[in-house]
Amino acid sequence: MSLHRITLKNGADLDGFRRAVRWLMAEELAPQHILWSLDEAPSLFGDDDLHDAPPVSLPKSVARLIELCVCHSDPERFALLYQLAWRVLNGERDLLEIASDPLVHRIDMMARAVRRDLHKMYAFVRFRRMHGELERFAAWFEPDHFILEASATFFIDRFRSLDWTILTPIGSMRWDRHALTFGPSAQREDAPDEDSFEEGWRGYYESVFNPARVNPTAMRAEMPKKYWRNLPETASIPGLIQTASQRVDAMIEQEATMPTKRTPERAIEAMWDQEPKTLEELNAIIAKAGPLVPGATQAVFGEGPKHADIVFVGEQPGDQEDLQGRPFVGPAGKLFTKAMNEIGIDRSQVYLTNAVKHFKFEQRGHRRIHSKPTAGEVKHYRPWLMKELELVRPKLVVALGGTALLALTGKSTPISRSRGLAQFGPYRGYITVHPSYLLRLPDEATKREAYEAFLNDLRRIHDLAEADPDTGELPLAAE
Ligand code: URA
Repeated sequence: MSLHRITLKNGADLDGFRRAVRWLMAEELAPQHILWSLDEAPSLFGDDDLHDAPPVSLPKSVARLIELCVCHSDPERFALLYQLAWRVLNGERDLLEIASDPLVHRIDMMARAVRRDLHKMYAFVRFRRMHGELERFAAWFEPDHFILEASATFFIDRFRSLDWTILTPIGSMRWDRHALTFGPSAQREDAPDEDSFEEGWRGYYESVFNPARVNPTAMRAEMPKKYWRNLPETASIPGLIQTASQRVDAMIEQEATMPTKRTPERAIEAMWDQEPKTLEELNAIIAKAGPLVPGATQAVFGEGPKHADIVFVGEQPGDQEDLQGRPFVGPAGKLFTKAMNEIGIDRSQVYLTNAVKHFKFEQRGHRRIHSKPTAGEVKHYRPWLMKELELVRPKLVVALGGTALLALTGKSTPISRSRGLAQFGPYRGYITVHPSYLLRLPDEATKREAYEAFLNDLRRIHDLAEADPDTGELPLAAE
C-alpha cells in the first residue's frame, strides 16, 4: 500500500488534525500508511472528501490529551497522536490507563511539558504600557511550545478590561476588550521595555521576598533565566540574594523582641516611626508593608490632585485595580466614572482612594473573586487612610459604602440609615452607596432607581464641594 501524505500547519493545528483523523478513520488508514508533514500554510487534501467524513468518538481524556499535545513543538506530535487515536478506536479504549505503554508514556511527557509551558506563561507574562499609548499594553514571552491559542482564555479572563497584546516568536495575539485576534510572530524589540509599573512590581517583590527561604537553585528552576529579562522584579534578585544572610540575622534579632503575628498595631508603628510628609512617602510605606493577606499584585494608592476638593473613599481595589495599579478602573469604577460624568464631576479633579489598599480575593479556577475585608483589616489600613486625608486636606470626604464608612468612623452602620450629610472627624462628609452595589441589584427597574438616587447624591456632593464652607452658600453662577 502506498503512503498517504497529510500536511498540517506547523503550530497547534487542532482543527486540521481533527479533520485528518476523521478522514483517515473513515478510509481505515492505519498509522503505518501515513506520512505526516508540516507546512506554514498547507492545503490539507485538495478535495472535499474530508467534509463527508463522519465524526469519531474518542473518550474525553483522550480528546483532552490531544488538545494539549498538538501544542507540543515535537514534529512527530501528529503521528504519535494519530497512533493513539487509532489504537483507542481499534479495540484499546482504555489504553491511557496503561502507563507503561511506550506511546502512552511519551504522550504523557509531552502533555506535561505543554502544561509546564502554559504555567510559566501564566506566571511570567508582564504587561507594560505601549510607547505613546495610554490604554494599550503589551508583553513579550518566549514559549517552548505552540501554546499561544491555548493560553488565550486565561489572559482574557484575567485581563478582560485591558487592551493587551502578547508578542512571541511564534505569533502574537491581541485582546481589544471585545475580540481576540491572532497576528504574526514578533521580536523582543517590538515589545515595550520599561514603564511606570516597573517600580511597583519591584517594590512588591522586594516586600514579599523572604530572605530566610532563599534558594537560588530552586529559584532558577522555577523561574528559568530566559524569563528574567521580561520581569521587572528580577532586577532586585541579585541584591536580595547578596543581602539575604544579613537580613535573616536582622529578622532573628527582631523576632526576639516583636510579636510574631503581624498585628494592625505593628503597621501603625511602622508609619508613625517614619511620619510621612507627602503622599509619595506615605505610598512608599504602604508598598513596603505589603498586603496583609497574601495574593495582591501590588498596593493600589489613591489617585488625583494632591489637594483635591473631594476625596471619594471606596472599599478595596478589585481584580482590575490590582492588575493595573489604579483605583476604580474595573466594572464598578467604570459605572462610577459614568455617573460622575453625567453630573459634571471631572474624575481627574477629584481624589479617589480606598479604605484598604490591597485586593483580597478567593481563587476559583482562573477567576479571582473579591472577598470583603474584615473589620480587623479595615482597622489595619485606617491610619494610612487618615494620613492620606490629612495630606490632601479636602473640603469634603465621601464614604462610598459600608467599608469606607467603617474606616472613616470606626463604626459599622447601615448605609440606608446614615446616607447623606455627615462629619468625619475634622472633615465635612457625605455617605452614599458603593457603585458595586448598583451592579449587584437584581432587576433593571431597581437598578435604574438606585442609579438615579446615586446621581442625586453626586449632585449634592458636587454642590457641597462648591459651597462656602462657613456659610454653605453656593458660588454665583458665571454669566
Ligand atoms: N471598588 C472599590 O471600592 N475600589 C476600587 O478601586 C474598585 C472597586
